[in-house]
Amino acid sequence: MSELKGQVVVVTGGASGIGKEAALQLSGKGASVVVADFNESGAKEVAEQINQAGGSAAHYKVDVSKGEEIKALIDWTAEKFGTFNGIFNNAGIGLVKPFLEMDPESYHRVIDVDQHSVYYGMYYGAKKMVELGATGTIVNTASIYGTAAAVGSFNYNAAKAAVVMMSKSGALELAEHGIRVVGVAPGFIDTPILGDDQEAKDYLAGQHMRGELIKPEKVASVVTFLFTDAASAINGQTIPVEDGFLS
Ligand code: NAI
Repeated sequence: MSELKGQVVVVTGGASGIGKEAALQLSGKGASVVVADFNESGAKEVAEQINQAGGSAAHYKVDVSKGEEIKALIDWTAEKFGTFNGIFNNAGIGLVKPFLEMDPESYHRVIDVDQHSVYYGMYYGAKKMVELGATGTIVNTASIYGTAAAVGSFNYNAAKAAVVMMSKSGALELAEHGIRVVGVAPGFIDTPILGDDQEAKDYLAGQHMRGELIKPEKVASVVTFLFTDAASAINGQTIPVEDGFLS
């Protein structure tokens, strides 16, 4: 219950899906959690749920594609809770288009939200921990599409592949400061990002060995483990949570 007591962790994309479940589970292990999201009312609801259950949480409205907003989020967190021990860089979007329609705007939007956000969270997060003399963990959400190519996902493939390498490269340099950097690479998770097309979702479910979409709780439990001391020998790696997706 109290493995993460005294730890202060920011979860981006915490209003929904994987981030919401991670915020709940991190809090369940005793961490204080800042639920950060573009969707302020959703983030507020998750923080309230945590506080009502006896945990410690606050919410914060952020656009993760903007470096200055991530810096402000991390400064605010450290000020409010007195320390800062890590961030789950998880907020993300998809924007599926055939490559010949992948105009610069559609390309850059996904790179900004899914990739640059991770750099900002790592950079400002690590700097804050070093400034405070704190140790901690950074977990980044990649995807199976960080290693497997998918039709219509040139922007997303590029962003998530970068996230895999950023976890590795960041881990290499931050280890000496007592900061671990790790990633998760989810398969197809039953969250709003998949949209409403049931036929498409059934197809994706069929890509898994059990033939079902994966529940966001299953990714969150791996993320939560990665924040604990039990995972202290895992560094730089991106852990697949994909029920045997093999392509
Ligand atoms: P979701 O749509 O349930 O949650 C994403 C959250 O990110 C939402 O609350 C949304 O408001 C927030 N968000 C989006 N853009 C934002 C921005 N600019 N600033 C702040 N917040 C923003 O989706 P899910 O599935 O929980 O996604 C979480 C992460 O998991 C994403 O990085 C996604 O790419 C990744 N992922 C999801 C998979 C899936 O099948 N659901 C598979 C592989 C990776």
